[in-house]
This record gives sequence, structure tokens and C-alpha cells, in this order.
Amino acid sequence: VKITAYGVRALEEPYFDRLNQDQFTCKYVRELLTHDNVAAAKGSDAVLVRGNCIVDRQNLQRFADWGIRAVFTRSVGYNHLDLQAAADLGITLARVPGYSPTAVAELALTLGMAQFRHVSLAVDQTRQANFTVSANLFSREIHTATVGILGAGRIGLAEAKLYQGLGARVLAYDPRPSATAQATVTVVPLSELLAQSDIVSVHVPYFPGENDNLIDTEFLAQMKPGAVLVNTARGELADVPAILNALGTGQLSGYGTDVFRDEVALLGKQFATLDEVPNAEARQLMAAYPKVLVTPHVGSYTEPALVDMIRISYANFHDFFTTGTTSNAIRVAAS
Ligand code: COI
Repeated sequence: VKITAYGVRALEEPYFDRLNQDQFTCKYVRELLTHDNVAAAKGSDAVLVRGNCIVDRQNLQRFADWGIRAVFTRSVGYNHLDLQAAADLGITLARVPGYSPTAVAELALTLGMAQFRHVSLAVDQTRQANFTVSANLFSREIHTATVGILGAGRIGLAEAKLYQGLGARVLAYDPRPSATAQATVTVVPLSELLAQSDIVSVHVPYFPGENDNLIDTEFLAQMKPGAVLVNTARGELADVPAILNALGTGQLSGYGTDVFRDEVALLGKQFATLDEVPNAEARQLMAAYPKVLVTPHVGSYTEPALVDMIRISYANFHDFFTTGTTSNAIRVAAS
């Protein structure tokens, strides 16, 4: 079975080779899948992508024309896949429903704590030879604070446990809380979580057309004044102008994000200056530093997560090519 894998960084190749155990013939493409490099998959039986790859009808049509019937993602999120087009073309889509959940949870915690303790501001001051201790470095301690986890899935609960370990009171909101969620955290209505939390961390999947701009003016107005917001889920969930406005009024004291809209134009690229970043929203977020901390979608960029992503993807391909399907297949929601 021949697989073309897109967006494989040099560091990742040895992991792909080691976990493959000669089951598959893999072709690695460094870049994310675009309309320009789709032809690299010609001659393959299957394609493996990750988040931010362009898996729209146009690319799926090309794959179908070349007899490719399996296009799998090694990400948890699958908002980059055109589910309807794949169903129309008879292509099976699958994902990795969970990899080391602490990967993203640890980054979310780090961004939250960095904002809570004003780390970037403090470091910036000392880098400018300024050792004064101003009021805006004054902080509470996390064991006296409340953390709200939005989305009590695997990642949200992993973060909840990290914060519980630090002694914080942890609340969670989930429209369909699992038994594990109920047993792990105090599940409350969203309005209560927003009103009480000093740090709100978002871990909900993005469903295009359904929960775009979930974090909007109304959401922010319900938050505790001066709280910190963290988004390691998807940029599309955040109404950035509303967030920047809330930072301006002090309603929010800090925003930490690993994700932003139209990441695909930025990720993997180096620009000479911030002015050259071809994404107005990203430029605005960067300009709001240190009230806004932006990382380049690295939540899942850890060794345990990488190993899980590759291992589970290979298992998905193994299942598909031996049984015709995989339990991790993504189905089109009935409309
Ligand atoms: C996900 O797994 O959903 C991610 O965001 C990871 C990234 C490599 C796209």
C-alpha cells in the first residue's frame, strides 16, 4: 500500500519510518497539501494529511480521479476536510480521535499561567533593563483562583487535572458531559463558568457554519472582569476584534492563543517583519503583545502526541486496507 503523507517535517520522518515496520510505502511531502502540490499523491493508494491541509472538493476530486479511496488526517480536528465532497466521491475519511491529550493541555496551561503571572510583561521589562515592579505585575496565586474549561473532552479534562494538581478550583462546561467529566470536574452551565472563572480555556471542536465566533462580545461580557482567555482549539472560534476590544477595556486581562484564522497562509513560513504577515487578524493579535501571546499551533507538537498520531494513522490504514473501513472513519452528519 502506497501512502503520500503531507506536512511531514524532517524531524518527524524517523518516527514515520520506525512506526511503519515496512507495512506501507510512504512518500513524504514537507509542505501542507495545497492545490499546487496535490499531484504528489498520484500513484498512491492513500493520502495522509494534518490540520490546515486543503482537503476541499477540488483536491478530493483529483484523488478520486487517481483511484485514491482513503484520505486520512492525523489530527483530532477535521474542520479542514470537506465531508460532503468525500461522501459524494466515495472517499473514506478518518482521523485520530485522540493523541496524548496532555500535549495541548500543557500548552493551554502554560499560556494561561503565563498570562496569569504576567510572565511576558515581566521578562520584557527586564530585557529593557527595567527592574521596577509595577502594579501590573501584581498577581494572585492559582490555588486561590477558578479555572473554567470549555469542552470537557479528553484535552479539556487533561487540562482540568493539571490545574487541579496546582490547587485551582476547576469548573467545566460541556453540552453533553461524559461520565468521566462528571466524575473529574464540577460541570456547570456556561454562564456560571464564565462569571466565576479567572482563566477560561477553550477546548471545543470547530464545526464550520455552526460555532464560528463562539467567543464573541456577548461571551466576553459574561466573563469575570479581568479574566484570562486561552484558545488552543481553533482560530475560527474566536471573534478577534471582540477580544481585542475586551482587552482594551480591561474586561479581559490577557489572551493566549495557539490558533488563529487562516493559519494556512502563515504556518511553516518566516516573514521578514510582522508587517509582511499576510493575515490582518494575525497582525492585530501580534500587535497586542504582551496582552496577547500567540504560538504557531504547536500544542500537539510533542513526541508522545506525534507517536500517537502516526501509530493510530497507520492502524487506520491497516484496518481500511484489510477490512474496507476503520472505526475512526468520519461520517457525514445526517442533515
Ligand atoms: C488537531 O489535532 O486537531 C490539531 O490541531 C493538530 C494540528 C497538527 C493540526
